[in-house]
Amino acid sequence: MGDFPRAIGPLLCVVGARPNYMKMAPIIRAFGARPDLPRSVLVHTGQHYDASMNDRLFADLALPLPDVNLEVGSGSHAVQTAEIMRRFEPVLDAQQPACVIVVGDVNSTLACSLVAAKKLVPVVHVEAGLRSFDRAMPEEVNRVLTDQIADVLYTTERAAHGNLAREGIAPERIHFVGNVMIDSLVANRERAPSPAEALRRAGAPTAAAAAPSGYGVVTLHRPSNVDRAEALSQALGILREASERLPLVCALHPRTQQNIERFGLGSLLATDRFVVLPPLGYLDMLGLMGGARLVLTDSGGMQEETTALGVPCLTLRENTERPITAEQGTNTIVGRNRELVLSLLDEILRTGGKRGRMPELWDGHAAERIAAHLARWLAERKVPAGA
Ligand code: UD1
Repeated sequence: MGDFPRAIGPLLCVVGARPNYMKMAPIIRAFGARPDLPRSVLVHTGQHYDASMNDRLFADLALPLPDVNLEVGSGSHAVQTAEIMRRFEPVLDAQQPACVIVVGDVNSTLACSLVAAKKLVPVVHVEAGLRSFDRAMPEEVNRVLTDQIADVLYTTERAAHGNLAREGIAPERIHFVGNVMIDSLVANRERAPSPAEALRRAGAPTAAAAAPSGYGVVTLHRPSNVDRAEALSQALGILREASERLPLVCALHPRTQQNIERFGLGSLLATDRFVVLPPLGYLDMLGLMGGARLVLTDSGGMQEETTALGVPCLTLRENTERPITAEQGTNTIVGRNRELVLSLLDEILRTGGKRGRMPELWDGHAAERIAAHLARWLAERKVPAGA
C-alpha cells in the first residue's frame, strides 16, 4: 500500500445500518480504554434512520451519539452509495483521521472505504473475509471490494483467511481477532429482559412466550426473500405452517413490512400463533432469542448470535458467509425448502436440535485485541518527527 501521512488524527469510526451498531459499540469502548490510541470520532451515514432501526439500539448498546450524521437515508444502491461517498469526503478532509474503521458489509461500509482509500487514508475492516460466493447479494459485492482496498483486515473465523488468500490479499494485512458482535452479546446478556418482558415492551400478547410449547423467533429481510412476491409468499407460507407446530414471534423489518403490504400477503400472517412485531431493540431481541426454542432467519448476525447462545437456528437462505455457524454452531442452512424446514423443526422440538459449541475467540474480547493491534500498527507507521 502507499505511504500515508503521519498517524495523528482521530480514529474515524463509521456506522450506517442496524447490524453495524453492535459491532462498533465494543470497538469504541476498547479504543477509549487505550491511552496509546487517538480519540474516536463516530460518523453515522444515516443509511438507517427510523427510531426502531436506530435510536433504540444506540441506547441499548450505550453507543455514543454520532459526532457527525450524514443523513443519507434510503435510495437505490447506486444513489445511496454515491450519496454516502459525496457526503463522507468533506468529513474526511476536515478530520484528517489516522485511519477509517468500517465494520460488516453494508453499503456504508464500502462507500466510506472507497472514499478513504482514494485519499490514502488507511482503511481498517472489521469482519473481513466472509464470503457467501453469491454475487447476487449486495453485501457480497460490498465485502469483496472493501477487503480489496482495506489496509488492515480483522477476521472472525479462520475460513476467512482462505477466502482472502484466494483473492490475493497479503497475509500480513490479515489478523484473526474473533467476533466483536459476540463481544456485545457477552457484555449485554445479563442485561437482557425475560422473553415475557421483551414482548410486553413491544406491545405484544405474552401468551406466545408463555405457551407450554415455548416459541420460535423469526426475522426476514434479505432482498432474495422479500423483494419478489413469489419468494415472499413462499417464505411466509412456510413460516405460517411452522407456526402451527410452534408459536412464532416475528420482528418485521420495514422493507419486509412494506413488501407484504405491496404484494397483499398480510393474510398469510393472520393467525394468533404468529405474532408480528416492529423491529426490536438490541436487548429485547437478545432476551427473546435467548428464551426461544429456535430462530428462523435470513440475518447474518443472528446466525452468529444463536450459535453463541446455543439456540438452534434455521437459516432461510441458500448459503451462508459465516460457515462456522453451521460447522461448529447451531445453524442449519435450509433455503425456502418447506419439507426441510418442517422436518428440522420437528426434530428440534423432539431433541432440542444441534448443540454446537462456541467458535474460537468468540470470547467477548475481540475488540480489545483489535485495539491492541491497531495501537501497534499505527505506532509503527508514524513518520518520525521532522521527516
Ligand atoms: C441493510 C443492509 C443489510 C443489512 C440490513 C439490516 C445493505 C446493502 N444492506 O439492508 O446488509 O442486513 O441493512 O437491516 O447495506 N427503511 C426504513 N427505515 C430505515 C431504514 C430502511 O423504512 O431506517 C426501509 C426503506 O424502505 C429502505 C429499505 O428499508 O428502502 C431498505 O433499507 P436499506 O438500508 O437500503 O437496506 P436494508 O434492507 O435495511
